[in-house]
Amino acid sequence: MEDTVRYGIIGTGMMGHEHIRNLALLPGAEVVAISDPESSSRWWARQLLEGVEIEEYTDHRDLLRKAPVDAVVVASPNHTHRAVLEDIFASAGGKHVLVEKPLCTTVEDARTVAERAERHAGVVWVGMEYRYMPPLARLLDEVRGGTIGKLRMLAIREHRYPFLPKVGDWNRFSRNTGGTFVEKCCHFFDLMRLISDSEPVRVYASAGQDVNHLDEKYDGETPDILDNGFVVVDFESGVRGLLDLCMFAEASRNEQEISATGDAGKVECFIPESKLVVGRRNPRSVEEQEVDVDARTLAAGAHHGSTFVEHQEFRKAILSGSPPAVSAVDGLRAVEMGVAAERSAVEGRAVEMTDLI
Ligand SMILES: NC(=O)c1ccc[n+]([C@@H]2O[C@H](COP(=O)([O-])OP(=O)(O)OC[C@H]3O[C@@H](n4cnc5c(N)ncnc54)[C@H](O)[C@@H]3O)[C@@H](O)[C@H]2O)c1
Repeated sequence: MEDTVRYGIIGTGMMGHEHIRNLALLPGAEVVAISDPESSSRWWARQLLEGVEIEEYTDHRDLLRKAPVDAVVVASPNHTHRAVLEDIFASAGGKHVLVEKPLCTTVEDARTVAERAERHAGVVWVGMEYRYMPPLARLLDEVRGGTIGKLRMLAIREHRYPFLPKVGDWNRFSRNTGGTFVEKCCHFFDLMRLISDSEPVRVYASAGQDVNHLDEKYDGETPDILDNGFVVVDFESGVRGLLDLCMFAEASRNEQEISATGDAGKVECFIPESKLVVGRRNPRSVEEQEVDVDARTLAAGAHHGSTFVEHQEFRKAILSGSPPAVSAVDGLRAVEMGVAAERSAVEGRAVEMTDLI
């Protein structure tokens, strides 16, 4: 393959646009085809790709059969991921794929896909770009570098705005998203595994839908999506993880506040303030640092410059033949943790990860 990687975008709604904008910033990346059944989504994508010759499809299977692509980005709704991935795996040419999170909406689907991905000739990468948010990447460096000693507690707070409207309102129902802890919080469960370098043992959650979307109706049905909750995760290493999610908290200074505390210190990061705070116990010191983010990548999406880094890394894996940094198994694990949290909240009990087998 030449150094230019040719991409097809499957699903050109909000996240598909973010991928297009970021690929436009990446040397050696060319979007050559798009597919979306919705004409308005294709229209918006065409505006972003003005001046670029692209093939346009309404059905992703036609794109997979006809378009000259090396790689595809799947940014269609969560409940379509399994079928779209199976079509990609069955198509010719071992196409590389970056599939948006969550890998799938159920553990069963995610397991089936992860098993099949093992045999796929191309790179299969799951879109957990939070890993690459610059302040978070710095926090990870500090933890791995030993600044805080042995990690004991990891707390992730996301306090943000409610779910945005989506094409066809697919995100209003858990049957399409997998539920909030799968749909949204798979990012945070992935971060917990990454930062703790350990696997979860059990999950306890308390959560509810108390404020958002209660006055909305779709074909007479009220949305059923959790809008706040706490999730505690016990890890094999003894690390305790906490997720504090609130989706009616846009009146906050930051959207994500993450702290990792060990026996020797504590490191925290704040997004979008883009701040890192490094604390040491002995002798006591607390140092605040600004974390720079390239203004162009910041403007190219809603994820603090991380989607650009994700594409840089995905492209490197494609060209070097190295394994994905975020594999389908990573995607599966995050879905499992989300499903365990959803189940724990409903049943009011701790869910052992072995319960999911
Ligand atoms: N990584 C992140 O931080 C992040 C952020 C937002 C969304 N997402 C994920 O991206 C995906 C898309 O979400 P969105 O916010 O862009 O939703 P959206 O509703 O804005 O866009 C989805 C698009 O997919 C199209 N579509 C439906 N079925 C399709 C198919 N079979 N083939 C091609 N296109 C199809 C729809 O017509 C729509 O245009 C979801 O999986 C979502 O969870 C990830």
